[in-house]
Amino acid sequence: MELLEKAALGNKTLQNRIVMAPMTRSRANSEGVVGDLTKLYYTQRANAGLIITEGINISRQAIGSPLTPGIYTQEQIEAWEKVTRSVHESGGLIYAQLWHTGRVGHSVERNGVLPVAPSAIAIKGQQHFTLQGMKDFETPNELTADEISEIVLDYGQAARNAMAAGFDGVELHAAFGYLPNQFLAESANVRTDAYGGSIENRNRFVVEVMQELVDATGKDKVGIKLSPTNAYNNIENSDPVAQFTPLIEALNEMPLAYIHLMNAMFPLDQYPHYPKNVMETFGSISKHPVIANGGYDRETGKAELANGIAEMVSYGALYLANPDLPRRFELNSELNEPDRATMFAGGERGYIDYPFLQN
Ligand SMILES: Cc1cc2nc3c(=O)[nH]c(=O)nc-3n(C[C@H](O)[C@H](O)[C@H](O)COP(=O)(O)O)c2cc1C
Repeated sequence: MELLEKAALGNKTLQNRIVMAPMTRSRANSEGVVGDLTKLYYTQRANAGLIITEGINISRQAIGSPLTPGIYTQEQIEAWEKVTRSVHESGGLIYAQLWHTGRVGHSVERNGVLPVAPSAIAIKGQQHFTLQGMKDFETPNELTADEISEIVLDYGQAARNAMAAGFDGVELHAAFGYLPNQFLAESANVRTDAYGGSIENRNRFVVEVMQELVDATGKDKVGIKLSPTNAYNNIENSDPVAQFTPLIEALNEMPLAYIHLMNAMFPLDQYPHYPKNVMETFGSISKHPVIANGGYDRETGKAELANGIAEMVSYGALYLANPDLPRRFELNSELNEPDRATMFAGGERGYIDYPFLQN
């Protein structure tokens, strides 16, 4: 398998195995509506086998960070429709990443309303970016069982909205410490009802949401992003293998498009018991195609495919900075460097102005 080979994803054919990883760029307006720059940004990258959008808030309650887009108002849906049409006209495929930030938010970005989470436990030792500067995390409100059921339905509605907006499918963001990942983590979920207290109960929310997404979109149109060894945003498990193995087995029973697995992106010195190789430990259990993510370049991406577990590799920072990444990989040419200062701000700067290769 090579990065530039075609791949099957459900009943769709990907033009290559290079996936654009989901990346928040904070270029929506204050109503969570994306504009022409976002259309251009994704259209420039329609050369990917698959684009996975930035995290898209499924509801007003889901919002955690400034100027992130939504898919719960008609105006937001119509704005995304322009993006998907343009990407399709350029020959690309695009999934919407569905996002609920849970406790990774701040009331100053939420009209004074505290974030919600499985348990009333604040993130410590980190701060959150807001338009009023960096802020300590607040203690979130613990969700009631009824509120959890409403969120599951919100995911379903967001998925239907995404399909109405012309997306090819949806990805549940269950990685990097956001709401679904909070349910999976012993450090963030100390509930004693059906959603906590045991491995099966901690997995329940993600399984329910995935079933809801499948019901909303149909077969082979739902993916999930997991980061089983991520400790960022105070996510800890005493035994990630014990937690994630039954989850992946439950996902195997659903008609999904793929599983997107993220490597640990921070040193795991404090977690010597965590497995070192995410693809071998977790990817090998998946019956669905695996997308490998986290820290890959051309050579390591190629090597990952050669291992025979992942069928596709997703690129974040490199795709952000190189709108023609597949061509650069094909020619083994130089890469533009990502500019950190414009990752989450800057309008068109660092968004749609990274140069393409000449010829
Ligand atoms: C600017 C930026 C924004 C990101 N936003 C998201 C996001 O909205 N959803 C998500 O799942 N991951 C997000 N990520 C993580 C990437 O999808 C990816 O997992 C990470 O960058 C590692 O891949 P890479 O080494 O190829 O960049 C973001 C990364 C960057 C650089």
